[in-house]
Amino acid sequence: MAAHGYTNLLPVQRKRSLDPGDSKEMVAARRRFLATGHYQPIADAVARALLAGLPADARVRCLDAGCGEGYYLRRLAAVAGAGQTLAILGLDISKWAVLAAAKQDRRPTWVVGSNANLPVLAGTLDRVLCLFGFPVHREFARVLRAGGELVQVDAGPEHLRELREIIYPALKPRRTGAAPTPAGFRHLGTETLGYSFALTGAEPIADLLTMTPHLYRASAEGRARAAALSALTLTVDVRLARFARDAG
Ligand SMILES: C[S@@+](CC[C@H](N)C(=O)[O-])C[C@H]1O[C@@H](n2cnc3c(N)ncnc32)[C@H](O)[C@@H]1O
Repeated sequence: MAAHGYTNLLPVQRKRSLDPGDSKEMVAARRRFLATGHYQPIADAVARALLAGLPADARVRCLDAGCGEGYYLRRLAAVAGAGQTLAILGLDISKWAVLAAAKQDRRPTWVVGSNANLPVLAGTLDRVLCLFGFPVHREFARVLRAGGELVQVDAGPEHLRELREIIYPALKPRRTGAAPTPAGFRHLGTETLGYSFALTGAEPIADLLTMTPHLYRASAEGRARAAALSALTLTVDVRLARFARDAG
């Protein structure tokens, strides 16, 4: 257990690299970007989807699998009904992400761990959230109770298109973003969230690039073109899918 209030449950023999997951710089960039509020409509939609259908006095056991620096769990706690008790577990393979999450809010349980081996008893969770992450559906099915729900958020084909147009010479056709129904689950519905937002100044644009995998995929020329920008209007296109855990 770290003094900052998180627990490291990723044994060294389960690590595939010395410092797995998002780097300290990526986590810091994502924290600054999310603090601008540009993704708040996503956070609000996630909170609504997670709490949908739960009684006003429910005790909700919820895991964010790949929680990053905890933005979406903090928003969830902020909008939960007065009578609802949230037992929240935020897990990420990046020590830097979990450290940043624990520093901002001590109430959830923060754990360094992997979606591939969740440190959670079978059938004990009501909700699992996986946002822009690395879903391991076999594990999500194991830890959810029958009727419990997975909320999965993925980028749609238009997501951040303007940034991709600048950093790549040509855009590859993208998948529709609709997540297939995983084994052991029933599809409850998929919501598309679309809007645009504007970034002004080189720093917010650099933060957005740094927090995405595009930073590593782009060429030096592509990164230089992004670094020369002083303003950029971007499209948000995300798919929020809900799946219920089958009984048995
Ligand atoms: C694109 S970020 C999204 C973070 C957060 N969900 C958000 O939207 O702000 C992906 C996250 O998944 C984490 N990650 C990568 N592999 C993982 C794994 N096997 N288990 C848990 N987390 C993982 C990374 O460290 C990173 O924080």
